[in-house]
Amino acid sequence: MSGKGGVGKSLVSGLTAIALRRKGYEVGILDADITGPSIPKMFDLTDHPAGNDSGLLPVTSKSGIEIMSINLFLPGEDEAVIWRGPLIGKAITQFWEDVLWGNLDYLIVDLPPGTADAPLTVMQTLPISGVIVVFTPQDLTSMIVRKAVNMARQMDKRILGVVENMSYLYVPEINKNIEIFGKSRAEEMSISANAPLIGRLPIDPALARLCDEGQIERYDSDIMTELGESIVRSTSANIPPGQGKND
Ligand SMILES: Nc1ncnc2c1ncn2[C@@H]1O[C@H](COP(=O)(O)OP(=O)(O)OP(=O)(O)O)[C@@H](O)[C@H]1O
Ligand SMILES: [Mg+2]
Repeated sequence: MSGKGGVGKSLVSGLTAIALRRKGYEVGILDADITGPSIPKMFDLTDHPAGNDSGLLPVTSKSGIEIMSINLFLPGEDEAVIWRGPLIGKAITQFWEDVLWGNLDYLIVDLPPGTADAPLTVMQTLPISGVIVVFTPQDLTSMIVRKAVNMARQMDKRILGVVENMSYLYVPEINKNIEIFGKSRAEEMSISANAPLIGRLPIDPALARLCDEGQIERYDSDIMTELGESIVRSTSANIPPGQGKND
């Protein structure tokens, strides 16, 4: 989660899921961003979810990640969902209760920005192991991150770690990292959230391109591997791949 829009929550959700999948785990993504879903586009998914009497089946990505998103039900990906809070909460609850997720080791939940209906429903309804807070190194961020952290604390949810996204830009011509949004706040945020710093993601135009083309599963980087390892370390599950419980 994050307090602010456009900081890279969906990207971090996607990369985390891919990293865990590459380690051999069974992974799902529940897209809890009902009015601004972006997961299906990143994974180039357009199939409608199939269903039967016992529930809805998630759509499987190329690398085998199970995905459920409201966008998969719409006649076209540009259709808008214009719903108020209670309906949004209901959709998220259904994605948790009525979807046949199968034997997953990890279910990653991608939240919309802010601390309103969707995060509230997720924290109240889903037995989440914890929260990953994503932020960018901008001035407003520290206050907004603290709001997200405070919400998680009030709801008795653990912060698994913090990720600074768009932290710097690597310029190969001069072999330097430039902090174009200002000095990194990663340490400060980690201390204020009392949670480990999972990593600093650079601005990577190649990554943005892969997301736009629906090819995020082709991305690879050390920080991404670290995302996966850090989640395995910090969740109580800490289970060998394929040993997930169906709960
Ligand atoms: N490190 C990065 N390098 C390059 N592009 C990035 C990076 N992080 C995010 N982006 C791009 O910025 C845009 C916003 O990212 P993303 O959708 O993950 O943010 P978000 O926090 O989920 O947004 P929202 O609040 O709308 O849900 C996307 O187009 C994504 O590809
Ligand atoms: Mg998003």
